[in-house]
Amino acid sequence: DGYETILVERTGRTALLTLNRPKALNALNLRLMNEVVAATEALDRDPECGCIVLTGSAKAFAAGADIKEMQPQDYPDMYLSDWFAAWDRLGRLRTPTVAAVSGYALGGGCELAMLCDVLLAADTAVFGQPEIKLGVLPGIGGSQRLTRAVGKAKAMEMCLTGRTMDAVEAERAGLVSRVVPADELRAEALAVAGTIAGMSRPVAMMVKEAVNRSFETTLAEGVHFERRLFHAAFALADQKEGMTAFVDKRPPRFTHR
Ligand code: HXC
Repeated sequence: DGYETILVERTGRTALLTLNRPKALNALNLRLMNEVVAATEALDRDPECGCIVLTGSAKAFAAGADIKEMQPQDYPDMYLSDWFAAWDRLGRLRTPTVAAVSGYALGGGCELAMLCDVLLAADTAVFGQPEIKLGVLPGIGGSQRLTRAVGKAKAMEMCLTGRTMDAVEAERAGLVSRVVPADELRAEALAVAGTIAGMSRPVAMMVKEAVNRSFETTLAEGVHFERRLFHAAFALADQKEGMTAFVDKRPPRFTHR
């Protein structure tokens, strides 16, 4: 696959993407961004891939955007290249994604984790948006997604002071779905991904679309959108299989790919 900054492994219907710039604590440079986007978009087109796990090292999920790469850039460079715009494509994947965060998830690292659908944390995880200490602000959606995840009070304090949040606070605040011991993080993330990948692929996509819609629209419109998808699910063989399996007291075998 020719990637330099990431590793991609497949186990069954699950893909594991590991950020791999250990010497820079997985700082997100443009090469890494382009590789993550290319790899995940390729997986998104693969009907044999039902879920994508994104992870880093034990010490760092990612310690932020690459400060050394950004340091010499000026405004025309940033604006004309639309720096970091490609990260938005991660949020548009249809395949569910799981972020497995161990160690530092700072700045762009925290934003990358929040771009994923399910966020699992090791007990060593540290989240923060410290950009203000560098004379800038979040640029991959942090001010928006952190605020939606944890509310104004914590988001304001974190973005204005740069203070970090540990795993326990992150779970309490609703940033992560669960905290697990660091040495179990990878297995747990793969287990969650395996569960998702075992569901009906189109239904998992519909669930993702419906939940994400709640961030973009009113309650009434969101409920309407969900209802239409719910009705549409009855066009799937997987609905017949899932409900028949329940009635027959056996596990379902979903077939849509
Ligand atoms: C480039 C980085 C980096 C980063 C760490 N490194 N973070 N390089 N960009 N974001 C490099 C260090 O320079 C060092 O390289 C090596 O990784 C190891 O880091 P150390 O600092 O020696 O490790 P440690 O002492 O354990 O401290 C870990 C740390 C610290 C607390 C995470 O590295 C840190 O504060 N990093 C920056 C965190 C940050 O501000 N992130 C937000 C970035 S801005 P050498 O070559 O010296 O060994 C951002 C903006 C998003 O994300 C959008 C803006 C437009």
